[in-house]
Amino acid sequence: MPVVPMQQILKHAFDHRYGVGAFNIVDWVTMDAVLFAAAETKSPVIVQVSVKTVKVMGAKLIRVMFEEMAGRVPVPTTLHLDHCPDRKVIEDCVAAGWNSVLFDASKLTYEDNLAQTRQVVEFAHQYGVAVEGELEGIKGVEDGVGDEYGGPIVALDKAVAFIRQTGIDSFAPAIGTAHGLYKGTPKINFQRVAEIMEAEPIPLVIHGGTGLSEETFHKLIAYGMPKINISTQLKITLADSYRAYLEEHPTEYDPLKLLGAVKKKLVAQIESFMHTFGSEGKAA
Ligand code: 13P
Repeated sequence: MPVVPMQQILKHAFDHRYGVGAFNIVDWVTMDAVLFAAAETKSPVIVQVSVKTVKVMGAKLIRVMFEEMAGRVPVPTTLHLDHCPDRKVIEDCVAAGWNSVLFDASKLTYEDNLAQTRQVVEFAHQYGVAVEGELEGIKGVEDGVGDEYGGPIVALDKAVAFIRQTGIDSFAPAIGTAHGLYKGTPKINFQRVAEIMEAEPIPLVIHGGTGLSEETFHKLIAYGMPKINISTQLKITLADSYRAYLEEHPTEYDPLKLLGAVKKKLVAQIESFMHTFGSEGKAA
């Protein structure tokens, strides 16, 4: 199936109230595992990449690899750039044919964030590229972007004005989730989600998906949060499965066997998320 616009994936999931995993990939094996799991479960899927990974691999190589690998699976897929405060990287990804970007200007003042996000939307939309906006700063560090505190919560009317005036396609609100591993049980601000949704029904994004309970996912999806970001759990599964295979097979030197074993563990992990999010069987 050809690669589809992010807007198409989000609209279907938002309208039908299911979640689509946006899985952070770091290389060929992780991208292969995400697409393989999507094909197995007939799920639409978002392949998501951090700026750090883009700087290592290059926007063009990732896009070419994605185009080729996505073309082999019969499900809708789209390529998204995660938290990016750097407009040059966004321009590079748009030029390379990516489908969607998160312009993370949450460190700027409200006015500067609004003005710059509006410019990014104007630029990206000329190429059909979707833009996710962020206002408040999500707690935790995602591949070098962000900090452990997050930003202050903005008044509801200002958040709604930001959504309307920038023209963003999706919005990442700070609702108590955090990147990385949770130290305790996160306190989720469901009321904030309901308030935004009532004032301006736009697809909202769940950041910090690793470690949230099934119940929390189901509740947030039902409110209208169709994009669910998962990064840390895949990094853990990746590292643990390399370690386990090498320890269990100290004299095995066939790299394809090693990579195959790693992929298998990743696929099982990703399929379990797809099951929880309700995206199974939704690939039209
Ligand atoms: P986790 O690393 O907590 O899964 O969060 C991922 C994320 O929100 C990427 O933006």
